[in-house]
Amino acid sequence: MNKVWSGVLAGVLGLGLAAVAQARGFEDIKKQGRIVIASEGQYAPFNHFENNKLSGFEIELAELVAKKMGLSVEWKALGFDALLAGLNQGRWDLVIASHGVTEERSRAVTFTEPHYCSGGIVVSKNPAVRTAQDLAGKAVAVQTGSSYMQNLLKLPGLKEVKNFPQDTDARTAMLSGRLDAWVTDRFVAKAAAKAQPKAGMQVGELIFVERIAAAVAKGNAGLAEAYNKALKESFADGSYAALSNRYFGEDVRCK
Ligand code: ARG
Repeated sequence: MNKVWSGVLAGVLGLGLAAVAQARGFEDIKKQGRIVIASEGQYAPFNHFENNKLSGFEIELAELVAKKMGLSVEWKALGFDALLAGLNQGRWDLVIASHGVTEERSRAVTFTEPHYCSGGIVVSKNPAVRTAQDLAGKAVAVQTGSSYMQNLLKLPGLKEVKNFPQDTDARTAMLSGRLDAWVTDRFVAKAAAKAQPKAGMQVGELIFVERIAAAVAKGNAGLAEAYNKALKESFADGSYAALSNRYFGEDVRCK
């Protein structure tokens, strides 16, 4: 098919076809020996910068999984908002940045098997703000484009849901008292409270649960399969458990 016709066809069928046309399949990646993985880097302890180096549970896990796939990793760090879109543009092969598997996202990208299970939790300086019900009449900070935002919008009676491009800014807004609560991942909340013990962060209750997975371009089944196989190996051979225990003191895989 010539360029014009494939362009027209992609236009008619929507982004999906264009996506598959541009993403690299596993065979191509293997030939080069290197996979390009994008993450954010502002979401400790999953993906964050330590001495200017992308670090965290997801970064180490992806390195481990890639190694089992016979690949080295070239990392890219970008704003959370840009990550999934770049897959279908073929700008990177895989994204690992704590994305919850949602229906909406599943229409745009192909998720791998989940690498951990968690959920959104309420954090506040006010001990009376702990549950979803407590958020009624309150102003809540969340990261733009996150699943927390979507889930909060379903709760009745919220005064305001304010978005921040980075989750760390949502936390800062809550800590400064500008907003009543921050909703984030339960492990992110725990780590933040531990890192700033004097800040008075009260970690409340889970308001919903989610499965967290890496993603590849829509329809890039070969790459997803190869990743899933390697992830499964890490579950079976104890390497995942060791990593998880080092970060969280528990095994965070989905049960
Ligand atoms: N789990 C949430 C979601 O699916 C938040 C992910 C935020 N990740 C990040 N790297 N900031 O939207």
